[in-house]
Amino acid sequence: MADFAGKRGLVLGVANKRSIAWAIAKRLADGGARLAFTYQGDRIEAGVRELAATVDSPHVTECDVRSDDHVARVVAEAGEIFGGKLDLLVHSVAFAAAEDLEGRFTDTPRDRFWMALDVSAYSLVAAARAAEPLMEAAGGGAIVTMTYLGGERAVPHYNVMGVAKAALDSSVQYLAWDLGVKNIRVNAISAGPVRTLAARSIAGFPTMEAIVEERAPLRRHISADDVGAAAAYLLSDDAQNVTGTTLYVDSGYHAMGM
Ligand SMILES: NC(=O)c1ccc[n+]([C@@H]2O[C@H](COP(=O)([O-])OP(=O)(O)OC[C@H]3O[C@@H](n4cnc5c(N)ncnc54)[C@H](O)[C@@H]3O)[C@@H](O)[C@H]2O)c1
Repeated sequence: MADFAGKRGLVLGVANKRSIAWAIAKRLADGGARLAFTYQGDRIEAGVRELAATVDSPHVTECDVRSDDHVARVVAEAGEIFGGKLDLLVHSVAFAAAEDLEGRFTDTPRDRFWMALDVSAYSLVAAARAAEPLMEAAGGGAIVTMTYLGGERAVPHYNVMGVAKAALDSSVQYLAWDLGVKNIRVNAISAGPVRTLAARSIAGFPTMEAIVEERAPLRRHISADDVGAAAAYLLSDDAQNVTGTTLYVDSGYHAMGM
């Protein structure tokens, strides 16, 4: 297991115990990391606070990534708690309107197109920029975000979220270039379907799962814990020379032509 003793991390995107962000956080905490968490909205606050308490989190705070003020405040608070330094940033946030995850991509209205890209892609840029000085102060850092194959190929129903993931994937590469000079690494994990709150809003999600079972080389589903393990690797010093890349945790599905 990767050693995160003494590492300080900020985790964006825990909604409940099924969240991919939570699987990653557990792994980091098991390795000895101290983690601050954010939640979006009062509805999930109590649940996130409860989970965070189980890993002795020193800080839980609200963050709507659409707000520059929220992002700046959250990172500043993490800086205060962690003595001006941050080693790890987990970005596991995405949103598109449910009506845009069914039917035709062609019909996506302008405002909801930009909303999906704002929450799901630009938020990584904003969070990385805010974290940069704290990671620089720590002598470097590692950022991981969550993507999906629907950003590279057309996956029916994934629609505008696929376009957002394409922007996210490209952002990973540009951030990796900008921040690499400060020893800050930026990587993505492309996960196969996992039953989470966000996944529930994708029409045809059960079909996505069934196709993975039938056509992925390993012919089985992945779990959030599989993603946690992969993220732990990318965030650890074992991956010290890995940046700007995407690690697929999808039972090999991405390798197939049909
Ligand atoms: N579940 C899957 O099958 C799957 C596969 C590949 C990639 N992913 C990606 O993994 C990431 C995490 O999703 P998940 O499946 O764990 O679902 P989830 O619902 O548990 O997590 C999504 C998180 O995004 C947060 N969020 C949404 N809008 C926000 C906003 N405006 N400000 C701040 N936070 C906001 C939610 O509060 C939630 O915590 C997402 O980027 C998702 O696209 C998921």
